[in-house]
Amino acid sequence: MEDISPYLFRYKGHVFGTELSTPENIFSLQTFEIRDSDIFLVTYPKSGTIWTQQIVTLLCEADPSNDIVYDNNWHTMPWLESPLDMPDYSLRPSPRLFTSHLTPALMPPGLEVKRPKVVYVMRNPKDIVVSYFHFCHATPKLETPKSFEDFLEQYLEGAVLGASWFDHIREWYSKRDQYNILFLTYENMIKDLRSEVLKISKFLGKNLDSSAIDHVVERATFRNMKKDPKANYEFLPQELLDRERGQFLRKGTVGDWKNTFTVAQSERFDQVFQERMRGLPLQFTWDIHEHP
Ligand code: A3P
Repeated sequence: MEDISPYLFRYKGHVFGTELSTPENIFSLQTFEIRDSDIFLVTYPKSGTIWTQQIVTLLCEADPSNDIVYDNNWHTMPWLESPLDMPDYSLRPSPRLFTSHLTPALMPPGLEVKRPKVVYVMRNPKDIVVSYFHFCHATPKLETPKSFEDFLEQYLEGAVLGASWFDHIREWYSKRDQYNILFLTYENMIKDLRSEVLKISKFLGKNLDSSAIDHVVERATFRNMKKDPKANYEFLPQELLDRERGQFLRKGTVGDWKNTFTVAQSERFDQVFQERMRGLPLQFTWDIHEHP
C-alpha cells in the first residue's frame, strides 16, 4: 500500500479513498462468494453510476418475485469496496445487487465461472473529468483541486480515486468474452433512455410489460431522479456530501467539457487519448449534436 495524499492510497494498482476503503476490506473480497444470481454494476467514477443504480434497482423492484425493498439505492446496491456500513452480504437473499469501481483483478474471484451479471457503464472521459472536478468540491472525503488544470493532470496520471480511466476501460473491455457483461454508455442513455432500459431489462432476464418499463424510464430521468430521496444521494451524511458545495445530480448532459477545457487542454487530452486507447475498438460520443 502506498499513500498518494492524505485522501488517497494506492493498493494493487488501484486508487482508493483513505476514509472510504481499507486494504483489509479490499483483500477480504478475495474470499467473497459470488452467486450466479448476483448483479454487479461496475463503473469508473462519474460515469453514470447512480443513474444506472436507479435503473437496475427499479427493474428488480418491478419484478413480481421481489419482496425486499431497501430504504435507498446505496443500501440496495452497496459498493463492494466500501466498508462504511458493510453488513454480512452472505445473509442477503438473491438476487444480490452490488456496485463497484474496482478493476477485474480486485473483484471477488469467479466472475468467469459463476457467470453473475455485470453491467459496465462507460462515459466519454472529458465529461468525466469535469464531473469529477466538481464532485471533488462537494465531498469532504476528497481533496479540493487547486485548479482544473491541476486536477486534469492528476486524472491523466491516474492519481485520483478509481485510478486511471484508460486502464479501467481497457481492463474491463478485455473481459468481454469471459464475463457475462453488458457494456452501456452514458451518452446512449442520454440519447434514448427507453432503449437502454429495455436493454438492461433483457440482460437481467426481466420480463416486464411496456407500462412497467415506462415507469422505470420516468423515474430515471434527470429531473425526477433529482427529487427522488432514495436515488439522489442527498441522504448521504454531510461528511460524505456537502450539499452546499455540490451534488451527484449536477448537469446530466453530454459535452459539458467544452465549457471548462481550454483548447490547449483539449488537444493535450486528445493526444493522451490516442496513445492510451490504441487498439481498442471503442467509440465515444463527445457531444450530443455530433453526427455519426
Ligand atoms: P455531471 O456531473 O456531468 O452532471 P456517478 O453516479 O458515476 O458519480 O456519475 C455522476 C454523473 O451522472 C453526474 O454528471 C450526474 O449529473 C449524472 N447523472 C446522474 N443521474 C443522471 C440522470 N438521471 N440523467 C442524466 N445524468 C445523470
